[in-house]
Amino acid sequence: MLKATGAIGASMLSSASGAAAPMAEILEGTGPFGAGMSRTRISALAATMASIGAAWVAHAQPESPIRQPDPGRGAVIAAQAVAPGVLACAQCHARNGAGSDGSGAFPRIAGQSAWYLAKQLRDYASGVRLNAVMAPIAKALSSDDIADVTAYYASVNAPYPPSARPDPALIKHGEQLAKTGNAARELQSCDNCHGPGGAGEPPAIPYLAGQYARYIATQLTMWQRGLRDKNPDAMADVAKRLDTQEIAAVAAYFQQVDAPRVAARQLTRSRGSLP
Ligand code: HEC
Ligand code: HEC
Repeated sequence: MLKATGAIGASMLSSASGAAAPMAEILEGTGPFGAGMSRTRISALAATMASIGAAWVAHAQPESPIRQPDPGRGAVIAAQAVAPGVLACAQCHARNGAGSDGSGAFPRIAGQSAWYLAKQLRDYASGVRLNAVMAPIAKALSSDDIADVTAYYASVNAPYPPSARPDPALIKHGEQLAKTGNAARELQSCDNCHGPGGAGEPPAIPYLAGQYARYIATQLTMWQRGLRDKNPDAMADVAKRLDTQEIAAVAAYFQQVDAPRVAARQLTRSRGSLP
């Protein structure tokens, strides 16, 4: 228990380091700590957490603390419908999680952390994240289904479909925003939270590298309009500081950023096997 508490303290303090990996298991089923908070707030919280300790860990896992996610069962859920009238995940996300049609209408979910994917499914089910397609699907999944299907997709190493070569000037602009932000407008860099090259900071912060530009742009617009979660509200704030041109630029940049190179790293980290 003490060891687990230590892991939480460490990963909360450093959402920008790889130390967060063990949190995926520990925090399964709770809200997103660490991601949208200021460093001071995180430090204060970490101190409180240390004193709350084991009791908090117990509280963090209200459901089936003993059951381990079963990616094998998750693969079956991905391939087959879970309930009458609900399409199988693979119809839209593909069995390998790369998105079934390459258009970006369906996000890439392969190798994304199970914790992040599960949070999204709960957010769709509760209506915190609004989407008419995913809401009924998420509602049809039991909490064990969610644990298993997200464990499955988190473990898949899917290829990156080739993308059309977008405008180099647009990509350059996007790269600059992604890497350095814009101090004058108090826009912090994307890489600050999403990691170098948008490789993600599992468990709470998704990778953007290799994600479809169209999907990235849609999500940023959803946040601008208040249609995606405010929990944490970091992304709503970031999105509201971007104009349409900048959204197109960061989206184009992240889709083509050296995705296969970061993919191996993402995968190892989402599986929690890096130190
Ligand atoms: C009919 C098509 C369809 C099916 C079937 C489907 N999805 Fe989705 N899924 C989508 C679309 C479209 C989105 C993007 C919605 C949005 O903009 O919020 C999405 C988004 C998601 C996300 C959020 C990804 C992210 O990066 O935030 C997750 C997780 C997800 N789906 C998991 C699943 C799982 C698990 C299943 C099967 C149980 C499934 N989906 C079945 C179409 C589908
Ligand atoms: C302060 C931290 C922070 C910064 C800075 C930040 N993000 Fe995020 N981002 C997050 C978090 C946390 C999430 C996950 C939100 C959730 O759990 O639903 C996220 C999610 C996203 C998603 C959704 C991905 C998906 O799979 O659905 C997109 C797209 C995104 N961010 C783009 C950006 C871009 C582009 C920038 C830079 C302009 C940026 N972010 C800067 C914290 C940040």
